[in-house]
Amino acid sequence: MSGNKIAPLTMALPKGRLMEQVLDHLQSCGFRFKISKRSLTATDDAGRLKLILVKNSDLPVYVAHGIAGLGVCGTDVLYEAGSEFFELHTFEFGATRMCLACRADHDPAGDRAQLAVATKFTRFAHDFFHARGIPVQVIRLNGSVELAPVLGLAPYIVDLVETGSTLKANNLKVTEDLAEIRVKLVCNPAYYKLHYRRVAELLQQIIENGDTEHESNNG
Ligand code: PRP
Repeated sequence: MSGNKIAPLTMALPKGRLMEQVLDHLQSCGFRFKISKRSLTATDDAGRLKLILVKNSDLPVYVAHGIAGLGVCGTDVLYEAGSEFFELHTFEFGATRMCLACRADHDPAGDRAQLAVATKFTRFAHDFFHARGIPVQVIRLNGSVELAPVLGLAPYIVDLVETGSTLKANNLKVTEDLAEIRVKLVCNPAYYKLHYRRVAELLQQIIENGDTEHESNNG
């Protein structure tokens, strides 16, 4: 029995549409995972990397507490959490847009002085409109945000648009692109200092795989 077995690095991944893309990427970097149905953790065959599968919006909590040293997360979720992480890498996959949208037949001439906006991204929405001096009422929702203009909860939504099919299916249109959203590899700063060499090796493996947007400003 070996007494010197090194614990794997830990990485939180968001369950949902991003997860498959991250798993494909890790696989192309040489990691082999067998993820059994409903299981929320998995370690690669070589015992180097342990994945922790969490709800997207909870991911920064796990990384901030060091439960997962690393995490793969969109800048939308990172902005809402406001945590101070090292951003090690920007992945080429998963880019989306944060947009302002309303009903396709909406007439902006009837808008009130204070814009009413429904969104999951309340911090982003507050900051975006305040920075532009636009009075805003932000209504927090947790999903299916597109219903808000359809049912009259708020004339506008701030939400992610990827293919645009959800907007189209609900007779909505983008009125403004507010921000580009990218997928980042982030690291808890204390974890980075503690495991610098192994994190650097992992990062190297990800970069060598052909993903070239390496952030060199941290660590
Ligand atoms: C996201 C987003 C939009 C949709 C956009 O929702 O909030 O609703 O995807 O994608 P599209 O432009 O490709 O249609 P998600 O699927 O995460 O579900 P949610 O509404 O429960 O948040």
